Amino acid sequence: MLFFPLSLALGLVAKGSVVAAGPCNIYASGNTPCVAAHSTTRALYDAYTGALYQVLRASDNTTADIAPLTAGGVANAAAQDAFCDGTTCSIIIIYDQSGNGNHLTQAPPGGFAGPAPGGYDNLASATGAPVTLNGQKAYGVSIEPGMGYRNNNAMGTATGDEAEGMYAVLDGTNYNDQCCFDYGNAETSNTDTGAGHMEAIYFGDCTIWGTGSGSGPWIMADLENGLFSGESATYNDGDPSITSRFVTAMLKGQLNEWSIRGGDAISGPLSTYYSGGRPAGYNPMNKEGAIILGIGGDNSNGAQGTFYEGVMTSGYPSDDIENLVQENIVAAKYAAFS
Ligand SMILES: *[C@@H]1O[C@H](CO)[C@@H](O)[C@H](O)[C@H]1NC(C)=O
Repeated sequence: MLFFPLSLALGLVAKGSVVAAGPCNIYASGNTPCVAAHSTTRALYDAYTGALYQVLRASDNTTADIAPLTAGGVANAAAQDAFCDGTTCSIIIIYDQSGNGNHLTQAPPGGFAGPAPGGYDNLASATGAPVTLNGQKAYGVSIEPGMGYRNNNAMGTATGDEAEGMYAVLDGTNYNDQCCFDYGNAETSNTDTGAGHMEAIYFGDCTIWGTGSGSGPWIMADLENGLFSGESATYNDGDPSITSRFVTAMLKGQLNEWSIRGGDAISGPLSTYYSGGRPAGYNPMNKEGAIILGIGGDNSNGAQGTFYEGVMTSGYPSDDIENLVQENIVAAKYAAFS
């Protein structure tokens, strides 16, 4: 019988300033494994050594994969800097670390067209969001209006009313009021197929649909045909305005139950901003399982924001598992690059 504490079972004993178990090791220990894991800043499994993302160089249109410096470690930003020296680079692939092949690439047109050739959305600059993790330089994904990433053939993501969880670490100071800076589950058709066809984290101060307390920005759920801060389709005072430089945003959903949680990604615990039943018209859900970053489900691409890392899980993660993931994020020591 294994009754030793979960933190020991997970190998969470600190090695120097680095927590050993990655976010996806933690989710797996709770039987809610990552089915997609995206980050340009670090590996999200403790043994992951593969490519994190691919950059495209403007001077000759060649590409390079950027991997972590060590297993489970921070991205090799120096390799990107060397490859992109004297020219500019964009992020052309954000690899899925889960093994499911759920990579994010340039989002295609749908309900709305993007500004790039063929109606695609633009690619993000590879140097738009420099940060440090445990003192090591890395680059996030700075989404400006017109940019976006997508995967319409994702494997293992929730469909229909299946349970899932997700989190994203974002820049709490980069946002706008347009639709929609999202990360999560969306339509496979790039079009609005109706209420309940999405379940994605939203971050920003859009007031077209729901809002939380104060003037924003808020972590909300994009459930399609609405950004929700709680059960009410409009105002929920439990969903606070975010004031931290780095923010952890969490969303999960299962049969007639869902939750928004959040916290400062560099210190402290998560708080539950909403947990309860579905809004009217959203039970059951009709999730489609595509993955989006930086856009709405119909490719609405007017929003801005910065993404550092995020995952989607199979199953509804427990609050305890999410709290351990937050501890891991805090231990990664995100800081502004100076
Ligand atoms: C890179 O590819 C783009 C799109 O095909 C093209 O417009 C551009 O001229 C190419 N640049 C170089 C240096 O070959």
